[in-house]
Amino acid sequence: MKVLIAYSSKYGSTREIAEHVCKILQTDGFDVNIEKASASLKMKNYDAIILGSGVYVGKWLPGMENLLKKHFSLLQEKRVWIFSDGPTGKEEPTESIKNWKFPNYLELLLKQINPKGIMVFNGKMLLEDMNMVHKFIIKKMNAPLGDFRDWEAISEWAKSIAEQLEEPNK
Ligand SMILES: Cc1cc2nc3c(=O)[nH]c(=O)nc-3n(C[C@H](O)[C@H](O)[C@H](O)COP(=O)(O)O)c2cc1C
Repeated sequence: MKVLIAYSSKYGSTREIAEHVCKILQTDGFDVNIEKASASLKMKNYDAIILGSGVYVGKWLPGMENLLKKHFSLLQEKRVWIFSDGPTGKEEPTESIKNWKFPNYLELLLKQINPKGIMVFNGKMLLEDMNMVHKFIIKKMNAPLGDFRDWEAISEWAKSIAEQLEEPNK
């Protein structure tokens, strides 16, 4: 069973989540590759694909968007899971971003891909990591700063994917 994890990450938070999911699946015996998301990624030889992106002003990063747009017909033939890494603060991500799951304008495309799961995790935001523009926006918005990633929730999600992959019909 070959699994691809493709991520888009501006400051490394999503990359680290992708690496964590990768380790869990590898420990369970899956053959996993981890790559940066892009339109040029070769995905034909994978049985399952996990896609993850940081969220910026309600959108996924360009690498993730380009991959989805370029490969949506191939993705329809695969078992696909998607995660976002975004909200900061201690609330449940579903509450803090009012059940946002994906950028609205990608809804039709995602319906066609029909992912097995779409998950949102709390993210990490530190001023010292950011470029000037992002610093300015975040200071204005007064968004919570810190690392709010819930590694237990991430592990559980990865284990649930492993369980589904072990059952061919799930
Ligand atoms: C300028 C800016 C805008 C952001 N906009 C959103 C947003 O709309 N929704 C959200 O949930 N998180 C938002 N975030 C938080 C990031 O998604 C979060 O920090 C994430 O962990 C970043 O992942 P990355 O380091 O992999 O890019 C924003 C962060 C920045 C710096």
